[in-house]
Amino acid sequence: MIDSTQPSAANRVTPFIKVKNVWQEYGDQVVLERLNLNIAEGEFCTLVGTSGCGKSTFLRLLLGQERPSRGEILLNGQPLPHEPDASRGVVFQRYSVFPHLTVLNNVALGLALPRAPVFGRLIGRARREANEEAAAILHKVGLGQSLDKYPAQLSGGMQQRLAIAQALVMKPRVLLLDEPFGALDPGIRKDMHALLLELWQEIRLTVFMVTHDLSEGFTLGTRLMVFDKPRIDPGAPNAYGACITYDIPLNSDRRLARAAVEALPKHIASGLNSAA
Ligand SMILES: Nc1ncnc2c1ncn2[C@@H]1O[C@H](COP(=O)(O)OP(=O)(O)O)[C@@H](O)[C@H]1O
Ligand SMILES: [Mg+2]
Repeated sequence: MIDSTQPSAANRVTPFIKVKNVWQEYGDQVVLERLNLNIAEGEFCTLVGTSGCGKSTFLRLLLGQERPSRGEILLNGQPLPHEPDASRGVVFQRYSVFPHLTVLNNVALGLALPRAPVFGRLIGRARREANEEAAAILHKVGLGQSLDKYPAQLSGGMQQRLAIAQALVMKPRVLLLDEPFGALDPGIRKDMHALLLELWQEIRLTVFMVTHDLSEGFTLGTRLMVFDKPRIDPGAPNAYGACITYDIPLNSDRRLARAAVEALPKHIASGLNSAA
């Protein structure tokens, strides 16, 4: 018999990430409001919504680059550290690599900085170890043959592989991706999807990925979140922010999920590429 006085098993488990009534305001502009989420470890969340609705802002909050105006974000039941740290890695659409460093040094630098904070320069065995760790992750993302190249000598897809390696070398538990493949050709994007899924499964990362491509979100995610403004005051467009209006589980019943994605309101679907 079910004892309704006891919390259910689902309620007893501390979620890996808990977003509790988070609001973000800049001056009198409310960007995000009433965000409430429980995220299990290993989930792959894809985030869509019209341009300017606050998706990148949400990633900055998860990264710890900004603190919410109201509410809080908990990681394993603890308030998120107030600064970005190694537990969360991030990849942006472009320009996150250092142009004057080789591929290998771009990745090894992330390891060197915490170990040699003054000059970021390791010597002897420490340097060899950092280089080996960096080379291993670069092999994993398919850049094993390009260790001595400079970013300008790489294609766009290779530069994003490098940015992913840079983020992963710090062994984050959460990977934040802000339209990482938005500037890439469709064929290259497919390769990147395969790579990302492989890494996600192998490392058991928790992923948050913003995309403007609904089919990308549908294909990659275990959960698709739609950011949208449920309230609009035409006389005061900044008075209300976006919240998560749809939170669609993708990995249980694909047919149901597809139907839910296809039934999204027109203004959301039309601002995005349509589901494949
Ligand atoms: N640091 C900031 N100061 C003031 N306004 C900001 C700041 N960051 C973002 N905004 C505003 O917040 C809104 C949401 O921006 P953003 O999160 O970049 O949207 P999205 O990534 O969904 O396109 C925009 O109107 C933007 O101008
Ligand atoms: Mg953005």
